[in-house]
Order: sequence, then C-alpha cells, then structure tokens
Amino acid sequence: MLEELERILENGLQALENIHDEAALQEWRVRHLGRSSPVMQVFAGMGSYSKEERPLVGRRANEVKTALETALAQKEALLKQQALERKLQEERLDVSLPGRPRPLGRLHPTTRVLREIYRIFAEMGFQVYRSREVELDEYNFQLLNLPPHHPAREMQDTFYIAEDGEQTNTVLLRTHTSPGQIHAMREFSSQSPDNPPPIRLILPGMCYRYEQISARSETQFTQVEGLAVGERITFSDLKGTLTDFARRIFGQQVRSRFRASHFPFTEPSAEMDIECFLCHGAGCPVCKYTGWLEILGCGMVHPVVLRNGGYDPERYSGFAFGMGPERIAMLRYGIEDIRYFWANDARFLEQF
Ligand code: DAH
Repeated sequence: MLEELERILENGLQALENIHDEAALQEWRVRHLGRSSPVMQVFAGMGSYSKEERPLVGRRANEVKTALETALAQKEALLKQQALERKLQEERLDVSLPGRPRPLGRLHPTTRVLREIYRIFAEMGFQVYRSREVELDEYNFQLLNLPPHHPAREMQDTFYIAEDGEQTNTVLLRTHTSPGQIHAMREFSSQSPDNPPPIRLILPGMCYRYEQISARSETQFTQVEGLAVGERITFSDLKGTLTDFARRIFGQQVRSRFRASHFPFTEPSAEMDIECFLCHGAGCPVCKYTGWLEILGCGMVHPVVLRNGGYDPERYSGFAFGMGPERIAMLRYGIEDIRYFWANDARFLEQF
C-alpha cells in the first residue's frame, strides 16, 4: 500500500505539471483531492489494514494528501502570478514615449488688436459701449447728417434688409459704427435731459458693406468708434488723445499727422496718418510713395449730430473718430491681404 501511495503522489504531481489554466486546475482538484480521489479512497479503506500497517499507511496517506494540497496551492499561486504578468504585458505602456501635443487655440489678430485698443482707451478713461449691427436708415445715415440722397452715402454701399419708401424705417446692416454715437448720446442724455452727463466711449463692432471683395476691402469688417462729449472739448483734445493712442499702439517714436478731410457727421473733419513703418517716410509701395499710412477718420462732432443725440451744441462739444482694427493689424503685422482675416486658414491664424 505504501508503494501505491507513492504512485498516487507521483501521478498527482505529474498531472499538475501540465495544467495551465484555472478550469483544468479545478478538475485536477476533484480528481486528486476530491471525495473519490485515490488518496481519499485510501482513507476510506483504512479498516482493511492490519493493526501494524494502519498507522504507517495512515501517516503516509496524510503526508501524501498534504503534499498534494501544497502543490495545488503553489500551482494556484503560480497561475495567478502568470495571469497578472500577462495583464501587465498587455497593458504595458512606454512612459518614455514623447507626448502628442494638443494644438492650443490662440486669439485672432483682430481680437488681439481690439483688446489692445480697449486697454489703451480704458487707461484714458473711455468705456466700451456696444450697439446693434442691424440698424435703421435713420440711425445709420439720417441722424448722422446724411439725409436721403446725400452724395456721401455713395461711399457706403449698403446691405438692405427691409426697404421702406420713406427710408427712415429701412432696415439695413450698419455700414459703420457711427450710429452707435446716436444711441449712446440718447441713452445718456435721456437720463437727465436738462443736464446730460459728459461721456467718453469707444464703440466697437462689426460693420458690413456691399462691396467688391479685394485685398483691401471685405464685405464684413470691424470698426472702433470713439466719442467724447462734454463742455469745452476742443480739437486739441482730439489731437492729443489720438496722437497718444498712435504712440501707444505703434510705438513711442511713431510720427503722425492730421490731414483735413470731410465727413458729414463731423466739422471740422480730419484723417490721421502715421509714418510708414516700412520706409519711414521715404516712400515705398506699401504707402504708395507718400511716406504715410492712413489709420483713422475723425473730427469735432457736428452740431446737428450733437442735437440729434440730445446734447445742446451751444453748451456741449465733442470729438469722434473711427478706425478699422483689421487695418491696424495689417500695418502692425505686415499682413498684405484683408481676406486672410475671414479665410480661417490655420497657417495664417497660427502666426499670432
Ligand atoms: N464712419 C466713418 C467710416 O466708416 C469713420 C469715421 C470718420 C468715424 C470720422 C468718425 C469720424 O466718428 O469722426 O468711414
């Protein structure tokens, strides 16, 4: 019987060698340690041994059973370890690989310039005032001293939304930010009609013109209007404010000049030029050989416009200006075609 026990042990251990998965291990457990397994049969048949044999067989049978159980436990642990290693291998990642960079968004050049304009004028005490993009003919033209059939209207080909015979109620896309001047003045003057408060505002926003798209003009563009109204505001205030603005945005050394011009809503009117950044006044293709680059229109608010805004022109005066941030961005960054601003070409946008 003792030899039989050795065989039982050997068979069991050998069978265990070939086991590589949990299911087979369970089968092995039933076969080699279960109720009807050979070693358990030995315990069951104990009665058939002589008094002398019984303790020897019993001890050895116990040892064999323990040895098989130990081997099972070791195998179990081994399989678990192997499964874990396999999992680690599958999920392995190379932490030394370089990361995949995610492209970061950036500000559109118009937005950058707009924010710079806001900052500079905020430092001078100007607040931002926003007004609508869809306007009435009345605000876009008439209240700004551009009556129906005024020749200056020709300069601004207009997108009409709903036409009306009288023109006053014709709905259109604003061709400039100047109608915001009327909205702003009316809002402030209505707060105290006998004593309207002084105002210092910039009015940014989108404008639309029904124009042939070219390197220099788009149908959609941004403007920033400026408006200062108060008692004793003079042309010197206009010049000082805008000269300072030009220095802050283009650099302290930049030279600027004012040229007489005409706008129906200002009197007198002017245009402001800065010295050409490319040729420094010598003349080149960028400045069309004039040495100067136009950056904005401006003037003293026309008395009719002041009155339309609820400010008595006998008591109040003011200055206004209008500039195109895209144009300023073009000068600042050397962008030669305004169409880039709306083309959404990442190669362009990534440069800012
Ligand atoms: N509204 C003018 C335009 O779109 C620009 C302008 C000129 C605005 C002179 C002003 C100004 O406020 O005073 O061309």
